[in-house]
Amino acid sequence: SDPLRLGIAGLGTVGAGVVKIVRQKAALLEARTGREIAVSAVSARNRDKDRGVPLTSYAWEDDPVTLATRDDVDVFVELVGGSDGPAKAAVEAALKAGKDVVTANKALLAHHGQALAELAEANGCVLRFEAAVAGGIPVIKALTEGLAANEITRVMGVMNGTCNYILTRMENGGLSYDEAFAEADGLGYLEADPELDVGGIDAGHKLSLLSAIAYGTQVAFDAVELEGIGRVSIEDIRQASDMGYKIKLLGVCRMTGRGLEQSMSPCLVPATSPLGQLEGGTNMVVIEGDQVGQIVLRGAGAGEGPTASAVMGDVMDVARGTRVTTFGAPASRLVASTPAKAATP
Ligand code: NDP
Ligand code: HSE
Repeated sequence: SDPLRLGIAGLGTVGAGVVKIVRQKAALLEARTGREIAVSAVSARNRDKDRGVPLTSYAWEDDPVTLATRDDVDVFVELVGGSDGPAKAAVEAALKAGKDVVTANKALLAHHGQALAELAEANGCVLRFEAAVAGGIPVIKALTEGLAANEITRVMGVMNGTCNYILTRMENGGLSYDEAFAEADGLGYLEADPELDVGGIDAGHKLSLLSAIAYGTQVAFDAVELEGIGRVSIEDIRQASDMGYKIKLLGVCRMTGRGLEQSMSPCLVPATSPLGQLEGGTNMVVIEGDQVGQIVLRGAGAGEGPTASAVMGDVMDVARGTRVTTFGAPASRLVASTPAKAATP
């Protein structure tokens, strides 16, 4: 069969990682999907930057929208970031042109997920975003596929590697906030605007996407009760430790009789619990279903390899011909939720 041809916009931490996998694991990708996966064209701001991977065999486009609509692109891979601007314009253009889309962009989906899911379905395209939530952990596939027969009673977890890295390095490494932040930056964890990380917004975006899938609702990021880690001091961490607790930026969503609760805030968790022992950029998502009971997913939530791994999992599903809805249900069946104020998790 013909190769599946990718157009990759964004060649930063994640984009460069995706190109590396396509180049270095070509035989494995083809053996597992039955189809060659090739890159046709790429886009970034700076054409001359060294990305640690050869790019000269690919066409270059300065504009992600032009890239997204090229005739030699079957799947548009959006790794630029941002809830609006070029990422949104290019994803919309790709879907309107009948291209399947894979993205790692939680901000885009949290703000425009419903409209984009509708656009994808109207054009017979798939729009997939495994890498957008919890990096390398396949939590979207778990919820939309493996756990699809369950009524979900609760989803909770640590979903931002930067915040978990900073909190654990301050606690265990004796680092200052600034030192821990710089280390997280060096590992490629940070968003282009780091306030999205430390302000809890990035984790809130992720929680809103999981809520939508878990409860068959339209994404309601504005209804997430949000608080970041900016007010957590070394003294708070020490006091928590003295009492046998750790401070984690914890997200919780559940459907109650009053409506959908979604909260993302610093919480005390027992130091000996799985969540309390979660260190560095690791994420953990706990899903509770009426049939399956409790599922715990743990793994790298950010960084080049783990995130590119999730992007490629989506690309490989497209190569296999898997056609799934964006949020695990037809977009027309997703209902607007009533937000309820969260109680203590
Ligand atoms: P980076 O900031 O490392 O890379 C962004 C890339 O987009 C750069 O190559 C940049 O070009 C390019 N870019 C920015 N603006 C434009 C534009 N107007 N036109 C063309 N290209 C543009 O981000 P990441 O790789 O870290 O993140 C990419 C996406 O993946 C984001 O949505 C992020 O939220 C998400 N994500 C990131 C994770 C991580 O661990 N880093 C984990 C999970 C999701 P240039 O290099 O020339 O400046
Ligand atoms: N900035 C994000 C984090 C990247 O630190 O978790 C992964 O989504």
